[in-house]
Amino acid sequence: MSSPPTAAGTYQLADGEEIFIRPIRESDLPALEWEGEYQHFRRLYAEHYEASKAGTTLIYVAETSTGLMIGQVFLLLDSRNKDVADGRHRAYLFSFRIKPAYRNQGLGSYMLNYVENQLLLRGYIIVRLNVAQDNPKARALYERRGYQVIGLSSGVWQYQDDQGVWQTMREPAWKMIKRLR
Ligand SMILES: CC(C)(COP(=O)(O)OP(=O)(O)OC[C@H]1O[C@@H](n2cnc3c(N)ncnc32)[C@H](O)[C@@H]1OP(=O)(O)O)[C@@H](O)C(=O)NCCC(=O)NCCS
Repeated sequence: MSSPPTAAGTYQLADGEEIFIRPIRESDLPALEWEGEYQHFRRLYAEHYEASKAGTTLIYVAETSTGLMIGQVFLLLDSRNKDVADGRHRAYLFSFRIKPAYRNQGLGSYMLNYVENQLLLRGYIIVRLNVAQDNPKARALYERRGYQVIGLSSGVWQYQDDQGVWQTMREPAWKMIKRLR
């Protein structure tokens, strides 16, 4: 017997195309770079992939039936900053994106709901995220899904790019929070 199209992890677009949400595999790492746009995050993604094997990060991808990756979301479960992720009840959502051709069809909302349920299954009841102040559409989506703004963040953080050079990001952001139950 085949499983129904609405089974957890499967989303059906209006044209009938099915999109599958599943945990990341090592072979997905190149696709996280989105044809080069996010190549500078290669090391960061590799570190988070290792953390996902250790259980301190969750990474889910959305893919088409032909295996094309069209979405991704990361959840930090434990961090040095316990305000964002404390390894027990509080998780931090980041790097959430859907390829432009697949946006505005409900997939992002479905994926958000999917990962919130994955967190609940693991005992996490609070989700924190930062959304850039110049991204009102994403903020509106989160607000519709029950997230509330709790303050402002300067959004300054550093990472080592794919060449090993330290880079500083400055993305002024709204801090948002949602209590899942
Ligand atoms: C934010 C993001 C992940 C949302 O993904 P998405 O798949 O477009 O999300 P949804 O389709 O669920 O919702 C987006 C819009 O589509 C609408 N929508 C939802 N289901 C729909 C459907 N079946 N048909 C038409 N429109 C629909 C929603 O109401 C919403 O409209 P609005 O923005 O005008 O209020 C995506 O826009 C993205 O990747 N953006 C760039 C990266 C980014 O900003 N990430 C967030 C960083 S914090």
